[in-house]
Amino acid sequence: MPEKKNIVCDFAIFGVLGDLSRRKLIPSLYQLDREVLLHPETRIIGIARHDLSHADFVGKMRAALEIFVKNGLDEEVVERLLARLSYVLINIDQPEDYKKLLAATDQGRRVLVNYFSVAPNLYEDICQGLDHAGIITPETRVVLEKPIGRDLASSQEINDVVARVFAESQVYRIDHYLGKETVMNLLALRFANSIFTTNWDHDTIDHVQITVAEEVGIEGRWGYFDKSGQLRDMVQNHLIQILTLVAMEPPANMDGDSIRNEKLKVLKALRPITVDNVDDKTVRGQYASGFIKGNPVAGYLQEEGGNPRSTTESFVAIKVDIDNWRWAGVPFYLRTGKRMTTKRSEVVIFFKQLPHNIFKDSYRELPPNKLVIRLQPDEGVEIEMLNKVPGIGKGIKLQKTMLNLSFSDAFLGEHVADAYERLILETMIGNQSLFIRRDEVERSWVWIDSIQEAWASSNEPPRTYPAGSWGPVASVALLARDGREWEE
Ligand code: BG6
Repeated sequence: MPEKKNIVCDFAIFGVLGDLSRRKLIPSLYQLDREVLLHPETRIIGIARHDLSHADFVGKMRAALEIFVKNGLDEEVVERLLARLSYVLINIDQPEDYKKLLAATDQGRRVLVNYFSVAPNLYEDICQGLDHAGIITPETRVVLEKPIGRDLASSQEINDVVARVFAESQVYRIDHYLGKETVMNLLALRFANSIFTTNWDHDTIDHVQITVAEEVGIEGRWGYFDKSGQLRDMVQNHLIQILTLVAMEPPANMDGDSIRNEKLKVLKALRPITVDNVDDKTVRGQYASGFIKGNPVAGYLQEEGGNPRSTTESFVAIKVDIDNWRWAGVPFYLRTGKRMTTKRSEVVIFFKQLPHNIFKDSYRELPPNKLVIRLQPDEGVEIEMLNKVPGIGKGIKLQKTMLNLSFSDAFLGEHVADAYERLILETMIGNQSLFIRRDEVERSWVWIDSIQEAWASSNEPPRTYPAGSWGPVASVALLARDGREWEE
C-alpha cells in the first residue's frame, strides 16, 4: 500500500454547502492537512447548484472551519487548505453540467474521489451525469453516506443505480462508527492479544451487552427520523457493525474483503426475529418528557414539528442469537436510545461463572469477570476482577477491582482522529476494509426488515420512558427473564 501522504487526489464533494460537509468533511480535511496527510497537490472540488464566486465559496468554507473545528485554527493550515479549493456549479439533473467537473479534474495525475453528501434519491442523476461526461474510469471512486435505503428493496434500488456505473471495488459505503478509534481497536484487542483470542466463545463467555446510549433527542430531524426510527437509524448500521466485529471469526489478514467476508458470515448466522418471537426478543420505546442533566426536555411527541400520534421508536433493546458454533447459547443484548441518561457507548463481555467457589466467606456466588470496552466518551478498556483485600487476621476477603486502561492517559498527547478523518483518508488510499460491502448492507436489511414487519403486525405502541432514563422498564425485564441485568 502506498504511503498515506503520497496519494494525489481530486476530492469532489457533491452537496458541499450542506450540513455534513460543513460540519464534518471540510473540518476533517483541515485536520488531515494539519497532520500532513494530504499530498501538497491534492485538491478539493466543491459542487453545489448555487451561483457562487470562488471568493464566496472559500469564505463559506472558512466560516465552516471557524465554527466546527474545535481547539482553535492554525492559520497557516487554513490558508493551505483553502488554496486547494475550487467550486463547480452543477445542477444535478443537467448531464451537460458535469463536463465542468471533467475539466476541473485530472485523472491521469490524480485519483478522483466523489463524495455524495446528498440525499440518496439524487444518486441516480449524479451517476448518470458522471457517466455522460465520461468522468468515470476504473480508478474513480464513489463514497456513499447512510442511509442506504430504509429496507432491503430500497437499498437494492440504490445499490443498483450506483452499480450501473461503478464496480463494487470503487464503492465506499460509510458507517461512521467504523472510523471511530475504539471501534477499530476491537480488532486489535481481539486479534493481537492471546488472552482474548483464546477466551472468546461459548466456553468462556456467558453473554455480551452492546449499549449505544445517546443523550440527544432527534435534534430537529423529525422529517427524517420519524420515518426511520432507532432500529433503522442506529441498529441496522452502527450496532450491527459493532456486533459483527465482536462476533466474527479471525480474518486471514487485514485485507478489506477478508474482514468483510467474516462480518458477512455473522450476519448470515443471526437468528431471524419474526412475529412468533418478537415480543420475547425486542423492546421498543419512545421518550416522554423528562430531565437531562437537571434540565427539562420535551417528549418525542412534543418535539417541534412532530406528529403527536407517531408510534416511531426512539429506543430499541434486542436479544440477538447468533446461530453458529462459536456463539451457540451466548446471547448478545443490544440497546440504543435517544434521550437516555448520558451519552455512552460500550461493549461489555460477561465471562462465565466459575464452576466451584472456595471463597464463600466473601461471596456466596463468585461474580464473573467482566471486560468493558468503552467506545465513547472516555475511550478505554476495563477488566473487572476479584482480588484479595490486603491484611492479615481476617481470613481471605475478596473485593471487585478494576484494571482500567484509559486511552487518554495511556496515549497522552496523541490526536484522536474524528471518524470522518480516518474514513476520508482511507477513501483516498483506496482501502475498503472500513466500508460496508453491498452484501453486508443488504443482509443486515433482511434481518432488520423482519423485525420491522413483526412490529408492524402487532398493534402495540412503543413503551414510554422518561427522557433522562435508561429506557423502558420492559428492557430491564428482557434481561431479567434470563436472570441477568444491564450494566449501568
Ligand atoms: C447517526 C444517526 O448515524 O449517528 C444519529 O443518524 C445519531 O441519529 C448519530 O445521533 C450518533 O453518532 P455518534 O457518533 O454521536 O455516536
